[in-house]
Amino acid sequence: MCHLLTMANLTNADINEILLDAQMFKNGSTWSSPKKMYAANLFFEPSTRTKCSFEMAERKLGLEVIPFETSTSSLQKGETLYDTVKTLESLGVNLAVIRHNQEHYYKELIPKINIPIINGGDGCGQHPTQSLLDLFTIKQEFGSFSGLNITIIGDISHSRVARSNMEALTKLGANVVFSGPPEWFDNTFSLGNYVPINQAIEQADVVMLLRIQHERHQGQSTYTSKQYHEQYGLTVERESRMKNGSIIMHPAPINRNVEIADELVESDKSRIFKQMENGVYIRMAVIKRALENSVRGCLHELHY
Ligand code: CP
Repeated sequence: MCHLLTMANLTNADINEILLDAQMFKNGSTWSSPKKMYAANLFFEPSTRTKCSFEMAERKLGLEVIPFETSTSSLQKGETLYDTVKTLESLGVNLAVIRHNQEHYYKELIPKINIPIINGGDGCGQHPTQSLLDLFTIKQEFGSFSGLNITIIGDISHSRVARSNMEALTKLGANVVFSGPPEWFDNTFSLGNYVPINQAIEQADVVMLLRIQHERHQGQSTYTSKQYHEQYGLTVERESRMKNGSIIMHPAPINRNVEIADELVESDKSRIFKQMENGVYIRMAVIKRALENSVRGCLHELHY
């Protein structure tokens, strides 16, 4: 693996290797590249966690981070994504992290770009590093994935997190089901069944909540916050019916009292801030792997 574009790029052995590296970083191990290296983070959609944790990971690995803001770049003068990334490569950037609202934006880049691309989220497509940090958090809790019941609840159709996690978790032997508004579930999520909300919560080892992605709904909001919370949110009453030992996850950003009750966000069962902490170590592991592998010339292998 040079690029990391989708979870389909990774075998179970690759995933386990990344989780082991992340654990080593979490335990205090360090790694540094044989020469000075530079990273650029190109975010065409808003981000707090992914952008800042990539930057934290890059700095912890000793990389120089080249400041880049889409709003003040020559993208505003009509420069294309390809020309932007090719320019950064020409300047000496060794690795680019990209988030873009266009699904599969990377397909035009991979054949012609000579630095590793790490996908920080492509539209409704994939969010591989979020999935890896979710896997890391689940593994820390349960030790393995086999036979675990994972319930993903919310705006499934628009969720790159749901898509990446469905693929990865089923490959690793977990049982994934989906819940939330039935109209926000579709048959492209073929590896898991739709289950009514109360049943889905009661049977879960992991309740994974998702934000309503209003930005992908073309302004049509069919639920008020109160209606959504009552019908599909993790209310205090629903949480009381979760299994002993089960946990709550959410990729965040969170809308408190919509998909999750305010008082549950930092409750005993919640691992939401643990996920964020783990994201730094996962991204360190992913960057290390990408830079090590790019040396052996895998950049033009197609990965999607
Ligand atoms: N989980 C996640 O991708 O958060 P950001 O949108 O803040 O990066």
